[in-house]
Amino acid sequence: MLECRQPSLLYDSEDMIAYHSKMSSPLPIPPLDDQFSDNVLRPNSLAEYIGQTQIKKNLSILLGAAKERGHSPEHILFYGPPGLGKTTLAHVIAKEVGANLRVTSGPAIERVGDLAAILTNLQPGDMLFIDEIHRLNKTIEEVLYPVMETGKLDIMIGKGPSARTIQLELPPFTLLGATTRFGMLSSPLRSRFSGGAFRLDFYTDEEISTIIGRSAAILRVVLPTELLPSVASRSRKTPRIANYLLRRVRDYAQMHKKEIDTDSVRDAFELLGLDHNGLSQSDITILVTLRDKFNGGPTGVKNLAAATGEDEGTIEDVIEPYLIQLGLIERTPRGRILTETGRDYLTND
Ligand SMILES: Nc1ncnc2c1ncn2[C@@H]1O[C@H](COP(=O)(O)OP(=O)(O)OP(=O)(O)O)[C@@H](O)[C@H]1O
Ligand SMILES: [Mg+2]
Repeated sequence: MLECRQPSLLYDSEDMIAYHSKMSSPLPIPPLDDQFSDNVLRPNSLAEYIGQTQIKKNLSILLGAAKERGHSPEHILFYGPPGLGKTTLAHVIAKEVGANLRVTSGPAIERVGDLAAILTNLQPGDMLFIDEIHRLNKTIEEVLYPVMETGKLDIMIGKGPSARTIQLELPPFTLLGATTRFGMLSSPLRSRFSGGAFRLDFYTDEEISTIIGRSAAILRVVLPTELLPSVASRSRKTPRIANYLLRRVRDYAQMHKKEIDTDSVRDAFELLGLDHNGLSQSDITILVTLRDKFNGGPTGVKNLAAATGEDEGTIEDVIEPYLIQLGLIERTPRGRILTETGRDYLTND
């Protein structure tokens, strides 16, 4: 078992210091384990939510103004690569306004009846979170448009000549959508998010370090402050990966019966097959394939997937955004190309 003692960590906000002092007395129960950690580590308020400053400012105004008027906030969409905090923001927003959050997802709403059941069960002021909203089917989308615009649900009763439409007035509510594929959303659906569509950006290494520090305090992992940058730089600028790496580093040190130190961090990352930028063999394979099989590109995702055996969705959602962020590849209208920086990366690393 890991010893429960105060980690030597730096926090850059007063909230975190307050939080930390609350956490410093031993817990009466053992720390929760990984299967719950996504929920345990999730920030509970906008103040606790690290980074995405511009989005937080906009949301504060949007939520504050709606509250002053006594209305539900308008519908909001979050998009961006996995693990950047879209679901977390939905939870945070609901908490900020004291609303009940109902959670569902695009693929879970198969029939119009499913959507109608969800909508008619909403209470005034509820927030409905539809994750993976790009996976809603067309028919459902078309029922959703008027709902988002007018707050009324049109449903068809009966079949054939006796069929008629009835209109149900819904309680005021806010729809929160999240997607990793903004491009797959139809433009009518996009335009109905009247509160705004917010793109989550990758985090800076400093922000990721703060997130790791916060998570280490919650999980009671003793991670020396000077090692934060080496974990942060391998986190693909993504909070979920940062939390994942923190747990792997913890496990490695625990199984080697030692404290987390420079050596155990280095060895843990070597075992995970990550380079200093957090690139794995899958990332390197994409770069090498682009260089050797496609002469540096341009080539389409389908070709890359076929040549590497990697799943197309994984390339688009997970691998590509980070490689683009590092400037190693570029997305052009004719396909993906390996940049000069990308070529150098393969030669030098
Ligand atoms: N801004 C943040 N500050 C602190 N922790 C964060 C932040 N954003 C995300 N996290 C952590 O990262 C984890 C993953 O975030 P989340 O589930 O919200 O990502 P997501 O964008 O919804 O991903 P996906 O597209 O895969 O659903 C959260 O459980 C939380 O612990
Ligand atoms: Mg999510």
